[in-house]
Amino acid sequence: MGLTPDRLVARARSAASRAHAPYSGIRVGAVAEDAAGDLHIGVNVESSSYGLTICAERAALARAVADAAGDVVALGVARADGVPISPCGACRQLLVDLAPQARVAFVATHGATRVRTAADLLPDPFVLP
Ligand code: THU
Repeated sequence: MGLTPDRLVARARSAASRAHAPYSGIRVGAVAEDAAGDLHIGVNVESSSYGLTICAERAALARAVADAAGDVVALGVARADGVPISPCGACRQLLVDLAPQARVAFVATHGATRVRTAADLLPDPFVLP
């Protein structure tokens, strides 16, 4: 069911060409897959006020919400240049908030695709009481 991890990463890498990354030059793509198999794409969008930058993963999750996608079951992440990347801490928090059981596929060392659940990526997360 759903895209394989390698396909998720491939779609994310292809989306990364749309990134807006004039400051770091690091173009990142993410694709969130919902339970119906629809894909919701995000890219990193950098700001001249650097801290306002949004990562590709959070952009993809926001896109899925805006698209009324329902449950996100998987998320792929990749850089346009294929260099390894895994979701930053802020993105892990939003993943746990929105899709704790989602399979997250990303590019690990030597180009291998690694898969973790969002919950595995952020043990003992912040949760509201
Ligand atoms: N970036 C992402 O899009 N996702 C991550 O998980 C880590 C970092 C982006 C943010 C910034 O535009 C660039 O990569 C360099 O940090």
